[in-house]
Amino acid sequence: MSLSARSFRLAQIPVDSRAKIVSVANRKGGVGKTTLVSYLGEGIALWAGKRVLLIDTDKQCNLSGAYGVIESTTVDAAHAFAGSALRAIHQPIIHPEYYDEDGNPMPFAARSSSSEIMKEDRQYVCQYGTYIQHDSPHLGTVNKLGGMLDIVPGDSEALSHIHTHAEKYPARTLYERWESWLIDCDILNCYDLIIFDTPPLDAELNEALYQLSDHVIVPVNPSRDTLGSCNTVTMSCLAANNSDGRMRLVTTIVNPLNSGKLSKREEILLEPIFNYPAFGCFPKNEVFPRSRLIQERRDISVPPYIDPESFEKLSAEEKRAVKPPMSSLIWNKKSDPSRKKLFSIIDKLHQRIFGEPLPPEDDN
Ligand SMILES: Nc1ncnc2c1ncn2[C@@H]1O[C@H](COP(=O)(O)OP(=O)(O)O)[C@@H](O)[C@H]1O
Ligand SMILES: [Mg+2]
Repeated sequence: MSLSARSFRLAQIPVDSRAKIVSVANRKGGVGKTTLVSYLGEGIALWAGKRVLLIDTDKQCNLSGAYGVIESTTVDAAHAFAGSALRAIHQPIIHPEYYDEDGNPMPFAARSSSSEIMKEDRQYVCQYGTYIQHDSPHLGTVNKLGGMLDIVPGDSEALSHIHTHAEKYPARTLYERWESWLIDCDILNCYDLIIFDTPPLDAELNEALYQLSDHVIVPVNPSRDTLGSCNTVTMSCLAANNSDGRMRLVTTIVNPLNSGKLSKREEILLEPIFNYPAFGCFPKNEVFPRSRLIQERRDISVPPYIDPESFEKLSAEEKRAVKPPMSSLIWNKKSDPSRKKLFSIIDKLHQRIFGEPLPPEDDN
């Protein structure tokens, strides 16, 4: 049965009365998807005071790693050609609230992950706090509006399984499981914005996420594959529009990766993107900034996951060894040029998603 032949519950809910759903996607890897998801989420939580949920659906789990909510182990796994090969497995940490005060398990998956939402024998999933929120000591002075950022991490093995067993996990089934979680677990009312970090390549999961989304943001780097990649995403979104009657926005944003702006050669290479009517593309002078903050972000948000309260109780030496996950947007001065550039880009994306600009920075 085709996607269009059945009803879409999400399409029945007025978009203004629920969380906006955004996917950051590109079938190429290394174009800045995960980086954009993290900065968009943090920026909108901090600067717009909104409640944001990030969802990691990439088996590489880089996003989950950035917030310290996964454990990684290396295993010797059987490999079709080499016989055996070392493989990294990432799975969420046991949820910090999984055991109650008496040591009894709570009624949700101990390691709550995005794949738990998609599995046949799924369990209730509980989001992880990233401690980027209004009552954190760091945020209290920054944002009187009170935004927050939570995450549903990925589980690399389970996500691989879903990817390779497409016959058991077709797009429609995955879509329905996401839709049911968002509606029946009240996720759409608990947040203002939900952002999916998606895997590279095309899979049933990507199609399901386009169907779910209101807006798909495609970071692109200056390369020959760019137009093809954007076309693939746009075609899927148009098909999704046709099947449920909701309009999806597709926005491409150029991430030059190696420098702060495009060279003449890169501009020429990207000309079709800037001129292609189906893409809402940022103008060529508004590229995702090559930001110092992005490098710093990786240094400050390392596992293990620790909440600010427990952090305060550590000795000075222990504190140096573990740092709580925290946004570099919080502690970088307003005058920092990287922060200013990032603010301007997040502001424009906020306008596309919510139809209004961020509050001026002085108000934050
Ligand atoms: N604008 C940028 N400035 C600096 N580093 C960046 C930028 N965009 C991406 N990177 C770096 O490039 C690498 C790939 O980015 P990532 O977001 O993981 O891509 P993807 O999720 O598409 O695979 C990462 O090491 C990231 O830190
Ligand atoms: Mg990624």
